[in-house]
Amino acid sequence: RDNVKVGLLGLGTVGTGVVKMIQNHQEQLVHRVGCPVEVTKVLVKDVEKKRDVELSQDSLTLDPYDVINDPNVDVIVEVMGGIDQTKQYLLDALNQKKHVVTANKDLVALYGSELSKAAAENGCDFYYEASVAGGIPIIRGLADGLASDKIQKLMGIVNGTTNFILTKMNKEGMSYDVALKEAQDLGFAEADPTSDVEGLDAARKMAILARLAFSMNIELDDVDVSGISAVSDSDLKHGQTLGYTMKLIGYADQSDARAEVSVQPTFLSNDHPLAAVNDEFNAVYVYGEAVGETMFYGPGAGSLPTATSIVSDLVAVITNMRLGVNGQSISAPQFEKQLKTAEE
Ligand code: NAP
Ligand code: HSE
Repeated sequence: RDNVKVGLLGLGTVGTGVVKMIQNHQEQLVHRVGCPVEVTKVLVKDVEKKRDVELSQDSLTLDPYDVINDPNVDVIVEVMGGIDQTKQYLLDALNQKKHVVTANKDLVALYGSELSKAAAENGCDFYYEASVAGGIPIIRGLADGLASDKIQKLMGIVNGTTNFILTKMNKEGMSYDVALKEAQDLGFAEADPTSDVEGLDAARKMAILARLAFSMNIELDDVDVSGISAVSDSDLKHGQTLGYTMKLIGYADQSDARAEVSVQPTFLSNDHPLAAVNDEFNAVYVYGEAVGETMFYGPGAGSLPTATSIVSDLVAVITNMRLGVNGQSISAPQFEKQLKTAEE
């Protein structure tokens, strides 16, 4: 077939990585999907901003509907962030029969089911591997790789910014504020880093993972959340003298159709495998009844690691196009069990 044309919503840390990967891995992509892949339209806020990628100036636009309504665009990659307005753009894109790939966990945590449903109704794909743990294929790991098992427990570090801050405070004695600034400069933090440091970003990711792992209808409000903004140097030092390292830990378990999901700063013994996960790296421990213990580890944020997950989603979409089997989403099985919380 002809080139597959991609419309990008956003050209920041992640969007730039997506363009670079599509350009630099073009040969690999053609080999994999059987045709060239090209970014043809890109939504930005400022068309004059200097960009770190080569794109023609006339591919940039300030109007999202130049991308969404472009009849030549096959797939929309959403890497702009935001919730309500962005959701509307993606629903409009799906209604225009465009496949959608997103890195937006805020949106997937709140409206993943609605977007999956809209995708299915339009015969479109909806993929979101990059929304949890950056470059780690944890969504497919749960949805495909471990689909046959009964997952009982998840425990993980799923926010790169807070792990980076805690690592710098612990290992280099850096102050919280300086470490946060460095995480922002490196492009790990959200536009408003409050959601990182207060644990909300991790809570969104844990809700997405727990839904897939347990096939339950888990909402963001079901997650018990605390962040790291109140953690002090002296807390960390005190832990260190006793042989413990503090990490922001996402935890989810289920038994008898009851689930518990939380995000809390937690002291781990220094010999715990998650205590050795440093900087912006993430790791998710998954316990399945049959498989036993598994651990997924890798870069949880950053331009190219996150772009890797997005471009792999693109490969899946284009492969589905070739096979004529679009209408796919990574979603919990249709017959979701209802969550019972501890109070019931
Ligand atoms: P970013 O660097 O702030 O980039 C956002 C991009 O979107 C910019 O290019 C910006 O345009 C554009 N944009 C935002 N709002 C817009 C609007 N209303 N109209 C037009 N353009 C708009 O963000 P990012 O770090 O790449 O993150 C993007 C998404 O990926 C977010 O959902 C984030 O949670 C998710 N994510 C990020 C990472 C990471 O490591 N950074 C990892 C996984 C997932 P200008 O360039 O003109 O300002
Ligand atoms: N702000 C997020 C993090 C980006 O630090 O983990 C990756 O989702």
